[in-house]
Amino acid sequence: MKDIVALCKRRGLIYPSSEIYGGFANTWDYGPYGVLLKNNVKQAWWEAMVKLRDDVVGLDSAILMNPKIWEASGHIKEFKDPLIDCKKCKQRFKADDVKTKKCPNCGGELTAPKAFNLMFKTNVGPVESDKNTAYLRPETAQGIFANFKNVLDSTRVKLPFGIAQIGKAFRNEITPGNFTFRTLEFEQFELEYFVLPKEATKSFKGWVDTRFNWYLDLGLDKKKLHKVPHPKSDLAHYAKAVTDIEYKFPFGQSELEGIANRGDFDLSQHEKFSKQNLKYTDEAGKKIMPYVIEPSGGVDRAVLAFLVDAYKEESVKGDKRLVLSLHPKLAPIKAAILPLVKKDKKLVDIAKGVYEELKADYFVEYDDGGTIGKRYRRQDEIGTPFCITVDADSIKDKTVTIRDRDSMRQTSVKISELGDFLQSKLK
Ligand code: GAP
Repeated sequence: MKDIVALCKRRGLIYPSSEIYGGFANTWDYGPYGVLLKNNVKQAWWEAMVKLRDDVVGLDSAILMNPKIWEASGHIKEFKDPLIDCKKCKQRFKADDVKTKKCPNCGGELTAPKAFNLMFKTNVGPVESDKNTAYLRPETAQGIFANFKNVLDSTRVKLPFGIAQIGKAFRNEITPGNFTFRTLEFEQFELEYFVLPKEATKSFKGWVDTRFNWYLDLGLDKKKLHKVPHPKSDLAHYAKAVTDIEYKFPFGQSELEGIANRGDFDLSQHEKFSKQNLKYTDEAGKKIMPYVIEPSGGVDRAVLAFLVDAYKEESVKGDKRLVLSLHPKLAPIKAAILPLVKKDKKLVDIAKGVYEELKADYFVEYDDGGTIGKRYRRQDEIGTPFCITVDADSIKDKTVTIRDRDSMRQTSVKISELGDFLQSKLK
């Protein structure tokens, strides 16, 4: 992990947050290439889950919501970790993580476990009081349930259908994070898929496979990706069945995404607390409380898995080459345009022309700094799948040389066919 964290900082993918002030625990910032990678991951999810599906619509709900939502969902009562404190060094631990009776840090005496709610509290308005407490949402899912009736009333959705959302969530996590794996502030991509109760088990199984294949299609190593069903005794208060998709990170096999059959828990609770009718009326006029299947993943964890999986150290003619073999769809920069010689005005003009032409459709980069070898290495390290070199042939017969990131093989392509070439590779 150390090497990946270092590469991320050096190449502008991910930085420690608030670094000039000594940092801030469990928070990270995405740099110029990191934000492109993260946006590509979100776009790939949105495309697969909303754009290409006839049965899913999107949503972008507020982070701050009426606190009654968190009463209804059970988060105020149930979203707690038992924590213990060291009386001597004051460090706090998750009770589950401490296997001895003494502080793992200083050997001091420990307190009895105390329940600690993971939601961040804030106040709305100028006065701080219990009456205006609000919470930063710990999941995006409840914004979807709270809008179930709005979506039913304003669109033509019919069961089974889903509502998808990507957005920030916040948890006051105590356990340190393994880079971006566990953070205080993170993004989730969540789908709530509403079905007839009798269809729920089949739909649950289908979603486990669909989500598993999404990670595979975007290049994760099949040997490192696992479906892990939860034993019934471990299920959260709302769940009838859960299967996690786990990835073998360098720090151990850990959850990327959970797929849950939440039954009718959420809609029934919101019906009770809001006193609104949240049932679905079918074509025969029958009122139904749908079950919900929820594939819920973390954007930051997905980004981390794609980064870890893509990271390779190779030896090329005695030199070390670091390369991020990201799926071209996820790569921050799709192609780099490199004039072979910076001082040759003709080459520079052609290269700049190619860059101007391609940038309307793709994130591309123009780079004329340093030797061609150095420029290749720089692009390898941020995962650019294609380096387009403009050389003497570009003047003579209007072709460029395209170097493939993974095989390092070079092919000659006509400048007029570059757009088609990239389109076919990035589809
Ligand atoms: N709505 C269900 C739900 O929120 P969860 O398993 O608590 O379920 C779903 O969270 C996903 O959100 C996890 O699989 C993980 O990818 C991501 N996630 C949860 N807590 C996180 C944290 N502290 N940092 C980064 N990602 C987190």
